[in-house]
Amino acid sequence: MYSLDYYDFGTPASDSAELVSVEIDGQTVTVPAGVSVMRAAAMMRKQIPKLCATDTLKAFGSCRLCLVEIEGRKGYPASCTTQVAAGMKIKTSSEALTRLRRNVMELYLSDHPAECVSDQVPVRTEFKAMAQLVGLTENRYGADGARHLGAPLDESNPYFRFDPSACIVCSRCVRACDEVQGTFALTIEGRGFDSRVVASQDERFIDSECVSCGACVEACPTTALQEKSLIAGPAPEKAVTTTCAYCGVGCSFKAEMKDEVVVRMVPNRAGHANQGHACVKGRFAYGYATHSDRVLKPMVRARITDPWREVSWTEAIERAASEFKRIQAKYGRNSIGGITSSRCTNEEAYLVQKLVRAAFGNNNVDTCARVCHSPTGYGLKHTLGESAGTQAFNSVMKSDVILLIGANPTEGHPVFASQLKRRLRQGAKLVVVDPRAIGLVRTPHIEAEYHLQLRPGTNVALMNAMAHVVVTEGLTRESYIAERCEQASYEKWKQFVAHPDRSPEATADVTGVPAEKVRGAARLYASAENAAIYYGLGVTEHSQGATMVMCIANLAMATGNLGREGVGVNPLRGQNNVQGSCDMGSFPHELSGYRHISDDAVRASFEAAWSVRLDPEPGLRIPNMFESALEGDFKAMYIQGEDMAQSDPNTQHVTAALSAMECVVIQDLFLNETAKYAHIFLPGSTFLEKDGTFTNAERRISRVRKVMNPLAGLQDWEITQRLSNALGYPMNYSHPSEIMDEIAALTPTFAGVNYQKLDELGSIQWPCNAEAPSGTQTMHVGRFVRGKGKFYVTEYVPTSEQTSSRFPLILTTGRVLTQYNVGAQTRRTDNIVRYDEDRLEIHPHDAQMRGIATGDWVGVASRAGDTVLRALVTDRVQPGVVYTTFHFPESGANVVTTDNSDWATNCPEYKVTAVQVVKVTQPSLWRQRFRELSRRQHKERAGRADRVDQT
Ligand code: SF4
Ligand code: SF4
Ligand code: SF4
Ligand code: FES
Repeated sequence: MYSLDYYDFGTPASDSAELVSVEIDGQTVTVPAGVSVMRAAAMMRKQIPKLCATDTLKAFGSCRLCLVEIEGRKGYPASCTTQVAAGMKIKTSSEALTRLRRNVMELYLSDHPAECVSDQVPVRTEFKAMAQLVGLTENRYGADGARHLGAPLDESNPYFRFDPSACIVCSRCVRACDEVQGTFALTIEGRGFDSRVVASQDERFIDSECVSCGACVEACPTTALQEKSLIAGPAPEKAVTTTCAYCGVGCSFKAEMKDEVVVRMVPNRAGHANQGHACVKGRFAYGYATHSDRVLKPMVRARITDPWREVSWTEAIERAASEFKRIQAKYGRNSIGGITSSRCTNEEAYLVQKLVRAAFGNNNVDTCARVCHSPTGYGLKHTLGESAGTQAFNSVMKSDVILLIGANPTEGHPVFASQLKRRLRQGAKLVVVDPRAIGLVRTPHIEAEYHLQLRPGTNVALMNAMAHVVVTEGLTRESYIAERCEQASYEKWKQFVAHPDRSPEATADVTGVPAEKVRGAARLYASAENAAIYYGLGVTEHSQGATMVMCIANLAMATGNLGREGVGVNPLRGQNNVQGSCDMGSFPHELSGYRHISDDAVRASFEAAWSVRLDPEPGLRIPNMFESALEGDFKAMYIQGEDMAQSDPNTQHVTAALSAMECVVIQDLFLNETAKYAHIFLPGSTFLEKDGTFTNAERRISRVRKVMNPLAGLQDWEITQRLSNALGYPMNYSHPSEIMDEIAALTPTFAGVNYQKLDELGSIQWPCNAEAPSGTQTMHVGRFVRGKGKFYVTEYVPTSEQTSSRFPLILTTGRVLTQYNVGAQTRRTDNIVRYDEDRLEIHPHDAQMRGIATGDWVGVASRAGDTVLRALVTDRVQPGVVYTTFHFPESGANVVTTDNSDWATNCPEYKVTAVQVVKVTQPSLWRQRFRELSRRQHKERAGRADRVDQT
């Protein structure tokens, strides 16, 4: 079905700077060289009938509906495959053209369900629109020529249906899967009238290689591929542009609505981060928003063993405020703190940190970035001067070599992965640094040049070895370094990495990577015209996370790969707004824009605006809050949108700390794991129920727009505002735009940001200020934000988490495409069909030694705790390494992870845990306890009247 408000130009834009003038139906138009006649006409708002063309795909020229007449040319060329040429005279309509187009359309109609074009049926497809455009609603031949009518439906995919009888074999779906998504799951089988679309080896969609991205559905001009929500639901009547609330790619969507019901989410072709593409999560997995598990009434209880009691908003807020006040009066100002959420908006994160600093009167605020990308902030700030990624996603289209470290974009950042794959298919080279053979190592039409399959925990040794090659083989860019970097720091670093102890040969035993491979990869990176580094949590979640980020920045500076398109250092941020929550001052030592709380001038500007004295001392980080709780000093916490009992390491330590507190206030959508230890539950709102902004991994600020009223009555920022007022610190915002105005007034990198500009430009990459009023695509152009780039010596210090005879394997963790983070949202959607439990991947050699086969229950024990998972025997992992995801609370992956953390930021060392794995027959003690607590929580909730479907 047509998107509600998208104008399709038929073929892609051209980026040529050269302009040519042509005449179309007697009117002159000037367009970029290289565009098609179809696009040139569309730019004049002249619609040439078309079926096989759409502007997200290369022209294909198969349907012959878009014929035009061109002066001086024989016949009737297809306008989609004919490029404009200076002076061309084109006619888009004539009697002959009308006749020809009708003939073509009639042939299609003869093999098509009549209702698809009938005026009586309110279906709105491009096919129907084209039939009407050429003046047909029925055909003269009836359905005698039918080849596809009556073919069975494929309903196997939970989100869309394939109806071969409505297929016109235009190949748009096949090309979308190839060109846009890069999965190559579809083909056209057979010839002529017998040709048909098949998935993989003629399998059902659900059994094929299809990853449910929906690109084929979006491209299909008929009802052959269609969203089930559209078939079953009401016809949408309006579209509201908003931003995906899942990962850090930040895809823009049109939420197509009928009243307050989301009929479907259509990827926005004008979206700067996604350009019309999406993945299964943002495109289809939004059903959690109205899931019956949503808590819609505030609840309180005196003890965590008591049942919950539903109360009014007023009672819940007043109870929370009076508890916070009581506890501070009894245990001191620093006995309480708050957590901002990376899933909430910038405005909401800003308000929580403001509440902590202004109303609590301390700096005990932290955020979930603590456990993912805090080392990025530290490492990039110290070396380059700014805590964020340096490029726009589009920059990758100019990269010649891509160094991908500790990231798995096809699972974690799927829309960026599709763009990356497109660039690799154009010929860019790929180096993968990962202990595991991620999908990108070998995938259709792509093979990594090098896969450096290092041992978990040896990143820094490997990067030092790569730097050693660059320095000792004369591959540094000396003129760039001399102009842009601190020379003394460079000399020191150079001497350090050039030492023979850091050579690939000397470190091969440590990293497990053959020296020649390291040398080859380093040469490839350093010799490229444009080389870019993309990295993920496989870099940061280590005891040397911050050191490794500095290694990356050092290497990029030494090879001149910063400050222009195609290069850069790019952290792939996990959650939708993890960049934003960090930008907003969620860390205990920093106000918004990463300015230290001890800076008198910065603090004074906030004190003046907020009319309050601020504590100049940094507050407690999350791990310190837990330690302090166990010591009896830290007694209460306000947690917005984070499930610490599932996502933080060493679960038993976390739950002991939560249990030691007198008041835990949770603001969330569902009764999550942390809620088991809470005293007050404030029901939050989903991204569909609120206004605000998210900031993605490329520093892009995008609007989130409210498409339905909050099911529990309040947007998250309103809850924080009420709590602040109840605590005696007044907040009086009437809309999140006012919060953004305050952020802009107090934060130099956001100085030029406001909602009106966001509406005009679509999105803005910060810094946005007087020097860059429309934002900044590429950072560090000409000079680094800190002035001169600074090299840091990065000594490799092995983690204390070492294997032993008791714990001989290393456990490392990651994620899958269909589930998201702790799974609270995706587990409550049909994505569960694709992935319904965390599994332990184990190499065949290690499995055989332990008598383990795929599907067996295995006990995983570490120094911190033990759990039980089902085994998956695979050579994706190397011998000695096991791997699991952490999307399901009952898996208890974090029962096993330890308290080890990054030396600089306390980011947990999730990626390295020494474990033993044995075959078992019964659940671990932890799992038994977990089941009991879950049963209790479930029992309390059963039969409550606050389910969404009953409101
Ligand atoms: S399924 Fe749709 S897009 Fe694919 S060939 Fe058929 S009509 Fe074209
Ligand atoms: S949903 Fe995506 S992956 Fe699946 S067939 Fe369509 S385009 Fe390919
Ligand atoms: S790639 Fe990320 S932002 Fe885009 S649709 Fe998927 S989950 Fe949402
Ligand atoms: S749209 Fe041009 S040939 Fe199909």
